[in-house]
Amino acid sequence: MVQFKSALAAGALLASAANAVTPVVVDGSDFVNAISGARFQMIGVAYQPGGAAGFDPGSGVDPLSDEAVCLRDAILMQRAGINTVRIYNLDPEIDHTACMSIFNAAGIYLVLDVNSPLPNESINRAAPWESYNEDYMRRVFQIIEAFKNFPNTLGFFSANEVINEESDPSVPSYIRAVTRDIKDYISAHSERYIPVGYSAADVRPLLADTFNYLGCELENSTASKMDFFGLNSYSWCGDATFEEAGYDILVEEFSGAHVPVFFSEYGCNEVKPRTFTEVGSIYSTPMSGVFSGGLVYEYSEEPNEYGLVVINEDNSIELKQDYLNLVDQYAQIDLEALTAANGTATGLEAPICESSMITSNLTNSFDVPERLPEVQDLIDNGVGGTWPTGVAEVSNTAEVATVTGPDGNELTGLELRILAEDQSNLPGENTSGTDGDGGPGLTKPSTTSSGSGSSQTGSSAASSSKVNVGAIVLAGLTLGVWAQL
Ligand SMILES: *[C@@H]1O[C@H](CO)[C@@H](O)[C@H](O)[C@H]1NC(C)=O
Ligand SMILES: *[C@@H]1O[C@H](CO)[C@@H](O)[C@H](O)[C@H]1NC(C)=O
Ligand SMILES: *[C@@H]1O[C@H](CO)[C@@H](O)[C@H](O)[C@H]1NC(C)=O
Ligand SMILES: *[C@@H]1O[C@H](CO)[C@@H](O)[C@H](O)[C@H]1NC(C)=O
Ligand SMILES: *[C@@H]1O[C@H](CO)[C@@H](O)[C@H](O)[C@H]1NC(C)=O
Repeated sequence: MVQFKSALAAGALLASAANAVTPVVVDGSDFVNAISGARFQMIGVAYQPGGAAGFDPGSGVDPLSDEAVCLRDAILMQRAGINTVRIYNLDPEIDHTACMSIFNAAGIYLVLDVNSPLPNESINRAAPWESYNEDYMRRVFQIIEAFKNFPNTLGFFSANEVINEESDPSVPSYIRAVTRDIKDYISAHSERYIPVGYSAADVRPLLADTFNYLGCELENSTASKMDFFGLNSYSWCGDATFEEAGYDILVEEFSGAHVPVFFSEYGCNEVKPRTFTEVGSIYSTPMSGVFSGGLVYEYSEEPNEYGLVVINEDNSIELKQDYLNLVDQYAQIDLEALTAANGTATGLEAPICESSMITSNLTNSFDVPERLPEVQDLIDNGVGGTWPTGVAEVSNTAEVATVTGPDGNELTGLELRILAEDQSNLPGENTSGTDGDGGPGLTKPSTTSSGSGSSQTGSSAASSSKVNVGAIVLAGLTLGVWAQL
């Protein structure tokens, strides 16, 4: 079993009121802070220690099951400036209160996939009518129950990369059906509405149609409209430019978007270490006018080599140069511009669905499949069970693992900074830990070093012809570190 530097005291989490982040809501094409109205942009990372293959329901382990693991990783995310974490595979039977409370205390939101790679736990792109069934929807609703009471649950992905060149033409309508059912379930059973969106593969010929199809208003099925759109895109490699990465085309394509759009994965790894010069583009105009930030793929090093940190078998962490480079890029974000409210964006409304919106062979029908009576019953009566009621107080804040920088020096003074009520995390704030030199990834880069990504002199290998690399790599995930522990 894993060894932590110091054991966590039993009962570390007290079931009492704790400071909480303010929920984030969707307003027009922006995410906004529900109380202050400030715009919210995702400065995020995908989190799946052990990789997709590490998901083993019934084992009692998922990425949010172990308090010590979450504390270790939330500290390193918080000091980097991360405010959002995406998690793909979760087990609704596990109580995630301890981990959700740690991320909440750190000022970090979570956007969660309701699906998993197991049979009956996602929509099958070849035969969606078979996978849209009671068992599947019950499991989806259980995920909603497991997370609806946490203030830092930012949203749910109803599906990830289901639509591609091979998907059946009825798939988009089934995604609308699942989205509808999830939204109706949340409306019926959650005290707070939580947004529901789709995460798309970067299949450029289908991208605009996918967005238009899932995002338009259907008068006979209003709940089936997605609340936000995530794009998994690996088109910026090395020191690419805005144009080389095809970001100019994305900005143009989504400039009329009426729901928030963001990178639900980014971070090409063809050039290593990654320099993340795309951060300069993503969080400044013109991109930031249209995109709500993004999530770097991914926190931990797995066989596909997209990690920011290496998790060793003894639970210690080595920060990769990628982590330091990302923090340096985050440090250059203009936070004031990033959070400024935009009345134009929040005033946008979805257009009515028209068949003329679809120009490819994506689908030809706006007939959303009818809800199954069994699913209606689940929405009417709930899925039953005992579920977490909200965040608890976090009392353990000291780093529980040994963390070293790429130079081998150990970081000292790492801790979770518990934020005050209504605060969330941002780069340059709440940074703990030092290696005697300001701490890896926290030194301000000199003005001559890589600055805003769009102004880089590009000699890169990047081109928009390899935009689908992420989907392929994801499909090839193999057993990761975590599963071997
Ligand atoms: C999926 O669910 C259906 C019915 O809801 C059931 O008949 C089928 O056996 C399930 N398949 C698997 C692989 O669990
Ligand atoms: C405000 O929103 C509009 C509509 O989405 C967008 O075109 C514009 O770029 C945004 N302005 C800023 C400063 O982000
Ligand atoms: C739809 O078009 C794509 C090219 O954009 C092609 O690869 C795919 O085979 C077509 N699908 C069908 C069902 O015709
Ligand atoms: C719902 O409205 C769309 C768009 O007008 C239409 O194509 C579809 O057939 C309608 N579905 C039903 C079940 O009436
Ligand atoms: C976190 O950062 C904010 C902004 O700099 C600061 O006001 C707050 O005191 C910090 N909180 C902690 C616990 O360090």
